[in-house]
Amino acid sequence: MTKLLFIGDIVGETALAYLETRLPELRATYHPDFVIANAENLDITRHNPSPGNCGMTTPSLTRLFALGVDLVTGGNHSWDGPEGMSIHADPRILRPLNYGDQVPGRGATILTRGNGAHAVRLGVINVISRSALPAADAPLAALDAQLDAWQNQTDLILVDFHGESVTEKLSVGFAVDGRVTALVGTHTHVPTLDTRILPNGTAYVTDVGMTGPNAGIQGYAPSGFVKRTRLRLPTGDPLTLAGGPIELGAVLITCASGRAHSIERIR
Ligand SMILES: [Fe+2]
Ligand SMILES: [Fe+2]
Repeated sequence: MTKLLFIGDIVGETALAYLETRLPELRATYHPDFVIANAENLDITRHNPSPGNCGMTTPSLTRLFALGVDLVTGGNHSWDGPEGMSIHADPRILRPLNYGDQVPGRGATILTRGNGAHAVRLGVINVISRSALPAADAPLAALDAQLDAWQNQTDLILVDFHGESVTEKLSVGFAVDGRVTALVGTHTHVPTLDTRILPNGTAYVTDVGMTGPNAGIQGYAPSGFVKRTRLRLPTGDPLTLAGGPIELGAVLITCASGRAHSIERIR
């Protein structure tokens, strides 16, 4: 039995500090073989109101990897900030697969645990919907091509599908049902209750939800979002983190022989 712990969009320094106290406890309780986290919102990299002010920085990534996170996935914020291009030199960082070959980074990788006959090869693929990144290529075509390319190279496959639409996430989930071990949704930062095993054995959830401060909007202070909704123009308000306690968006997937046995939320 192999256990995968997936942590949804980590939002900001307070969420990272929370994980520094909480993740060791989760690892001791659940003994995950692989820990994967979406970190596209790990930092506020620019306090000015321009787009592209989330993303990741090296100091925060160093702290995250020090906790035993094996791999980081991304989304529409994968290239944000001053280090948005250079961080992708690190093979522990994935960006959406279906975003052409001109931007740096990789959209799929294989992690291995154990040796010889006991080795487990986990393929991880990060794809994005056009609802989150309009210039993206078609996500299902990219996913199909990657799965074809990996014939017999993996024992388990986890897909982080980053997008807005529930119907699209479900449709892609059913399209790859039985060919991937798990497909988990990210990007909305809102956890959904629909953890389920699809008919051919793929674990599925529409959105894992964020790991971030819960008294605002998607982990951020609400005032700028509200002003922008009224004004319908950029407001100049800086992006700042929300207050409130940190909520944990995470799922634990147990699997064997390439198929998922269970997917449950970790509270
Ligand atoms: Fe996000
Ligand atoms: Fe996103």
